Amino acid sequence: MAVSVRDVAAAASVSVGTVSNVLNHPEKVSPATVERVLAVISELGFVRNDAARQLRAGRSRSIGMVVLDASNPFFAAVARGAESRAEEDRLSVLLGNSDDDVVREDSYLELFREQRVRGVLITPASHAAEKLARLQEAGIPVVLVDHEISESEFCSVSVDDVEGGYLAASHLLEQGRRRLCFVGGSSSIAQVAHRLEGARRAVATVDDATLEVIEMPALTVLNGRAAGEVIVGREPDQRPDAIFAANDLLAVGLLQGLTIFSTLRVPQDIALIGYDDIDFASATVVPLSSIRQPAETIGHTAVELLLKSIEDPDGDYERRVRFRPELVVRQSTVG
Ligand code: RIB
Repeated sequence: MAVSVRDVAAAASVSVGTVSNVLNHPEKVSPATVERVLAVISELGFVRNDAARQLRAGRSRSIGMVVLDASNPFFAAVARGAESRAEEDRLSVLLGNSDDDVVREDSYLELFREQRVRGVLITPASHAAEKLARLQEAGIPVVLVDHEISESEFCSVSVDDVEGGYLAASHLLEQGRRRLCFVGGSSSIAQVAHRLEGARRAVATVDDATLEVIEMPALTVLNGRAAGEVIVGREPDQRPDAIFAANDLLAVGLLQGLTIFSTLRVPQDIALIGYDDIDFASATVVPLSSIRQPAETIGHTAVELLLKSIEDPDGDYERRVRFRPELVVRQSTVG
């Protein structure tokens, strides 16, 4: 038989209302009573029935979040920022990983709808405008993370990836590199397409510069290593003299693929720059130059914007927050 809130109240010699306050508004209860009730909760093994409480309160304590790749430290940092802001309002974040798969993405959105979460943060794997609009019509507000849908009313928090791509390619060109190669993933990932567009714009400003594009199946370390080995296998005059990787995971793999079984040197023979500035970027054997995205700030801001859209839907605040990327220069481009 599950322990009820009444069992806890009786064992702690307090009212059911006091137990509820200890769980939901401890600031309303004396510290001694909080301590006594929590001790009884622990002793009896009481587990709150959140679904019932949420139904009664009509509002969930959870925020749903769907990221493209939970194994990417960038998204882990975004989630960390979201959690830190959610905790300020005693909310929790339910994190789902779509792996850039629409079916997985849909299953998480359905779960969050069933759970009646307070709102959803999502980096969409697909052209998600219509299904996200339906979610909002069902009363669950949505904030796009690391993405925006220009022809929509969705709140969003993102980075100007075209500017980021321009910064990365310009940095390589300023080092005198002229045979650039963009190693990315599916152009259906808007962030990747925008970075490539920025790189194209930078290359177009230098007459004798060229830009090759290598598209990998996914933005992972293994795919980066495979791309590096392909480049190593070419004749020297067929190789790029600089690589812009669409994210740091690809860049980490490229660094390995370019150097592990060859005499090629980074940056002497091939300069290499990534994107995101994840923690590992500075820890690689040749520390990686990268384009920094304020990942934790993106997550923190996304929750802030979600709560504003709930509490003050018609308020006077920016609904499309766009951060600027930052060039971080390390040894992989300047030696
Ligand atoms: O998921 C692909 C990439 O998009 C991540 O590495 C991060 O850069 C995001 O913006």
